[in-house]
Amino acid sequence: MHAIIYTEFGESNVLHLVEREVPLPQPNEVLVQLHLSGVNPTDWKSRSGSSGKPAFPEIVPNQDGAGVITAVGSAISPERVGERVWVYEAQHNRADGTAQEYIAINAKNAVELPESASFELGASLGVPAITAHRCLTIGESGPARLEAGSMSGQTILVAGGAGAVGHAAIELARWAGATVIATVSSDQKAQYARSAGAHHVVNYREDDAAEKIRSIEPGGVDLIVEVSSVTNLDLNTQILRPSGAIAIYASGSEPLSLEIRTMMRLNARLQFVYLYLVDDQAKAAAIADISDALDAEALHVGEDYGLPLVYFPLSKTAEAHQSVENHAVGKVLINTIEAH
Ligand SMILES: NC(=O)c1ccc[n+]([C@@H]2O[C@H](COP(=O)([O-])OP(=O)(O)OC[C@H]3O[C@@H](n4cnc5c(N)ncnc54)[C@H](OP(=O)(O)O)[C@@H]3O)[C@@H](O)[C@H]2O)c1
Repeated sequence: MHAIIYTEFGESNVLHLVEREVPLPQPNEVLVQLHLSGVNPTDWKSRSGSSGKPAFPEIVPNQDGAGVITAVGSAISPERVGERVWVYEAQHNRADGTAQEYIAINAKNAVELPESASFELGASLGVPAITAHRCLTIGESGPARLEAGSMSGQTILVAGGAGAVGHAAIELARWAGATVIATVSSDQKAQYARSAGAHHVVNYREDDAAEKIRSIEPGGVDLIVEVSSVTNLDLNTQILRPSGAIAIYASGSEPLSLEIRTMMRLNARLQFVYLYLVDDQAKAAAIADISDALDAEALHVGEDYGLPLVYFPLSKTAEAHQSVENHAVGKVLINTIEAH
């Protein structure tokens, strides 16, 4: 089979195509024939490394993917053979990610994908949807689980509604019954956020963004799903309701400098979210709720739903990484079945 590997940190040109044996699943693993690998910023950031050496001699990049189980380990029910699955955290603390034709992976990381869901959707779930779920379930006054109606009465602001995590946050919050406001930087992205299901869209670069959000929700929003906490700090302090929460899932190069009195008078709660440290219970809740949202056909990808798809063949994984690093709009997917 074909796989993409890297043996040292660096630019995308450290990635190259190799031939490998199809792996054998260990007792608690399944073997998945991957159809698509989904690329996230975490994949190029891990590959580019900042210091030291990679933790394994050869690394196959990418955390997310989708495909079909073709074999199972001795501890796994053979009934799972033939199951369509989405794969998450494939390369977390492991050498083997999804930029390859087959992956052997712990059975719990290969989650059933209903017939109604495409492989494109499956390969777009892992990092974005689990992160979005965690951001939506951090509030003491918000729900710990997502299901239809669990966020009704709540107003959520999703910063960056045309981004991959933003898209998943809009769809999950909308499914859970929240009123969703999204911020964007252009008319095209406004259209994407609306197509994803945002009730209201505001351009955060315009001077009256806070005023517009206040006119939609005069009491302030309950929760902000935040991609750029430093740039948006001023806006957020103007539109968060007292005792509201900000879930911060992305970092920038600038430090976040808070005026304590302002945050204290809001009785604000800031929760940083780092996918890889979300505890097992919360992660299992995310997987279960995302599965329910899939069954309810509440999650989508593609231009019509506000997340255009950008495809690369496996042999062009370096270009796929580059595209995400260059802030591609939409979801970057790698076709893992046709290697060239
Ligand atoms: N902590 C975690 O576990 C975790 C998990 C997933 C992702 N992340 C990180 O989160 C970031 C986003 O990931 P992604 O996959 O969603 O990327 P993406 O698809 O590129 O989306 C990022 C979005 O943020 C928007 N944006 C940038 N600055 C903004 C601002 N000041 N206000 C509102 N929107 C803004 C961008 O559009 P405009 O620039 O046009 O506004 C873009 O639509 C990445 O840095 C990634 O590494 C972290």
